[in-house]
Amino acid sequence: MSADASPEFERLLRSQRVWDTELPPFAPDTAPAGPLPLFEQWFAEAVAAGQPEPHTMSLATAGADGLPDVRTVMLHGADRQGWHFASHAGSRKGRQLAERPYAALGFYWPVQGRQVRVRGRVSTAPPEVAHADLHARSTGALASALVGRQSEVLDSTPELARASEAAWDRAAREPDAPAPSWTVYVLDADEVEFFQGDARRRHVRLDYRRDGEAWTRRLLWP
Ligand SMILES: Cc1cc2nc3c(=O)[nH]c(=O)nc-3n(C[C@H](O)[C@H](O)[C@H](O)COP(=O)(O)O)c2cc1C
Repeated sequence: MSADASPEFERLLRSQRVWDTELPPFAPDTAPAGPLPLFEQWFAEAVAAGQPEPHTMSLATAGADGLPDVRTVMLHGADRQGWHFASHAGSRKGRQLAERPYAALGFYWPVQGRQVRVRGRVSTAPPEVAHADLHARSTGALASALVGRQSEVLDSTPELARASEAAWDRAAREPDAPAPSWTVYVLDADEVEFFQGDARRRHVRLDYRRDGEAWTRRLLWP
């Protein structure tokens, strides 16, 4: 117990459980040769198991100062090019990725006690890809992108309300409006780790590492 934590917080914290549920088995020797088919399989299983928002992930970056940073973003796709996400180039993460084009992703699917970690180099997709990505989404997504200025200091909430109102109007009037800073990023993985929690704490960790065009697999101690 820490000296200055509130007793109520301590009690709540200690009363929480992880994986208070039946966990699926995972036999790593039956896993495919590359990580993408396994990611697709686990994603489909997460959806089928009722995992809320399995397409949200932690995105870790570091800028020129080398200090780590992390936030949640949505997964926009996963294919042979890599794991796709989108954001503003001028945001903090956008600036960090420009300075140091490497990132890590973390998915946590507690309904099945599963975690997936992805690491690799990040590139930016061509602007037309970002445009198509944004305009395939909702009016709200377009309005939000049109507001822009992500991660800048906001002087007041009415200022945001005014900018957002104008952006919603524009998104409705001009559904093809460009949002120039909106960028699709693609993380080309060179390491992907699949973690399956186990009730007896014999968790399975299957780590794929890129070896040229092929992947090698190894198990890691939990
Ligand atoms: C569930 C969820 C999904 C999010 N998805 C995105 C996203 O896809 N792109 C994005 O730029 N920000 C997204 N955000 C906001 C980011 O977490 C973050 O606040 C924002 O991108 C600014 O981060 P930065 O200052 O590190 O650049 C999401 C937040 C949450 C909670």
